[in-house]
Formats: sequence, structure tokens, C-alpha cells
Amino acid sequence: MRWYHPLLFALDAERAHRLTIRMLALAGPRTGRVETTPRLAQVVAGLHLANPVGLAAGVDKDGEAVAGFFGLGFGAVEVGTLTPLPQPGNPKPRLFRLVEDRAVINRFGFNNGGIDAALARLPATRAGVTGINVGANKDAADRIGDYARGVALAAGRADYVTINISSPNTPGLRDLQHGSALAELLAAARDAAAMTPLFLKVAPDLDHAQVDEIAKAAIDHRIDALIVSNTTVTRPHDLRSANAGESGGLSGAPLGAMARARLADFRGATSEQLPLISVGGVGSAEEAYARIRGGASLVQLYSALVYEGPGLARTIAQGLDGLLARDGFTNVAEAVGTAP
Ligand SMILES: Cc1cc2nc3c(=O)[nH]c(=O)nc-3n(C[C@H](O)[C@H](O)[C@H](O)COP(=O)(O)O)c2cc1C
Repeated sequence: MRWYHPLLFALDAERAHRLTIRMLALAGPRTGRVETTPRLAQVVAGLHLANPVGLAAGVDKDGEAVAGFFGLGFGAVEVGTLTPLPQPGNPKPRLFRLVEDRAVINRFGFNNGGIDAALARLPATRAGVTGINVGANKDAADRIGDYARGVALAAGRADYVTINISSPNTPGLRDLQHGSALAELLAAARDAAAMTPLFLKVAPDLDHAQVDEIAKAAIDHRIDALIVSNTTVTRPHDLRSANAGESGGLSGAPLGAMARARLADFRGATSEQLPLISVGGVGSAEEAYARIRGGASLVQLYSALVYEGPGLARTIAQGLDGLLARDGFTNVAEAVGTAP
């Protein structure tokens, strides 16, 4: 625990989060610089990253503090989820800390100020790779149309665009992960993205047949990378925190085993035909390194920041550099997928 943690932890979780974003927005690039070394540099889907530690979507939904997050050392920042129209999300409280489990449960439901406002805020020059994650409005009559609109608006403005069909907090959204809806969505999004790299973010709650179906559809529709994974609707039996019974998506340490398992499943199902981005329970350099050796080209994180504080991206990047050097790798790409 750092000195400011008792202060932030005394606030309810959503207020603490707002305060953190506001402080980082004010500090901007003065927070520091993107962490890099020749060993940490990595290319994913043609994008050049200074290091393979990314900020997961949902932290800076409206893109208010992009410069501040790069200053904390991240090699990539994913803004969003953004929807075509602004929407308030679900009633509060909707964000819960599970302190004893080093986890978080959220049921935000895509609260955001709309994609236009976020794009207007996005700085033209940025210190690192910046993605925009898009979703559908809760009341959209045509959900696939919402994705296509979001992708078209973000393409060309962001370095990559992610279509997020894996949030558990918009009823019915995850149905887009299957069958003809998935094929239709990917075709529309690919078309709308034009030359901008297009990533797909999936849920961890998938069986082998579902993994195979998504992997095949992603390859068929020329998706540039898969982000594995979003939060889980399952609840491991050994959760200890009082908030464990809250509904919503669970993230943080207890998601780690599932995220590792889905990474392995997608690695098998995609046979290196597209890059994988591992997210879920990453909180240390050792864990980031294990994901990379397990087939991830890049890792992302969110929940561990709540418990470890703003120095975490830099700590992980520096630790990773040391682990790569220890094992004789001259760059990240050499280490990707080296675990059996
Ligand atoms: C409070 C909160 C809000 C989130 N919002 C989004 C979101 O808007 N879009 C999205 O794709 N993922 C969202 N996520 C999921 C994260 O990007 C990430 O996939 C998940 O939390 C697992 O990573 P972690 O264990 O490092 O937190 C959110 C997660 C949390 C905890």
C-alpha cells in the first residue's frame, strides 16, 4: 500500500477512480515518459510499441488522460468503450473493490460521453500507440450499425480500433460472439475500419467450440489481433470479499487462471495466424512474461493498478526487460510463444 491508498480507498470506488483520472488529466505528460529499451520494443499488427505493457479499456473511457497514462510508462493506451451516443450507464453503485481477493466487480454498462466528444479530445500527437474501443448503445435498434459507425469514426484517428462484444453489462451484447451475428459484425467492422488495424475483444467465458468459432471468424474477416479477455461473469468459489456477490464482471487476480487458459485455447485455435493480446489478472513482470511466453504479443491491465498504484506499468516494463535479458532474448518478439 502506498501513502495515498488509504485516501483513495476511503472514497467509494467510482469517486476514487474519477479523482485519479482528473489528477492524471491535469498532470498530463509531466507524469513521466513511456518506458522503453531496445529489448522492450515490439511490433503488433504493424504498430510500433515502445514496450508491450498496455492500459486496458475502461480505465480512461472518455480519453481524458491519455498523455498522463503514457507518462506512467505504458506502451499503449486503449480509450473507451465509446458508443455513438453518450449514455449514463447503470445506476450507482456499480463499481466494487474486492480487497481481500485483489479483484474488482463492475457493472458500469458503457457509461461514456459519446465517441465524438472523445475523438475531439484526442491529441493529434501522442507518446505511444493509442487504440479506441467501441461498443453499441444500450438502446440501439441496430447494434451492428452502431459498431460500424464507431469504427468508421475512430478509424484513421486512432492507431487501432477494438470492437468490444464481450462486456457482460449490456444485456444481449455477448450474443454477437456467435454465428451469423458475429460474421455480419466482423464484415461490417472490417469494411468500416479500412486500413486501420482492427482488434476484437472477447469474453473469458467461452468453451472450446466457441473459441474455435471466434478464431476462425476473426481469421476469415482479417481481424488484426484478438484481445483475450474481458471480465468474467463466473465467480470462483474461493472469493473471500464481502462484495463477491455483486453482479457484473469480475476482474483482477481471480481472473488470471481463466485468462491464461483462454490465451492457451486461442493460441491453439489461431496457430499464429494473428497476434494475441492477453489481459486479465496481470499484475507483475513475472505474470506479463508468462503471458508473452504463452503466446501473447502484448499484455494489458486494469485491476492491478487499483491495488499496486500508478508506478505499476513502469515496474512491469522494467522487470520484463530484466527477465528477457536473463533468458537471453534480445527482444520481446523472440520470447512470444516460447513456452510449450
Ligand atoms: C471498472 C472496469 C471497467 C471496465 N470497462 C471496460 C470497457 O469499457 N471496455 C472494455 O473493453 N473493457 C472494460 N473493462 C475490462 C478490462 O479492460 C479488462 O479486460 C479486465 O478488467 C481484465 O483485466 P484486469 O484483470 O487487469 O482488470 C473494464 C474493467 C473494469 C474493472
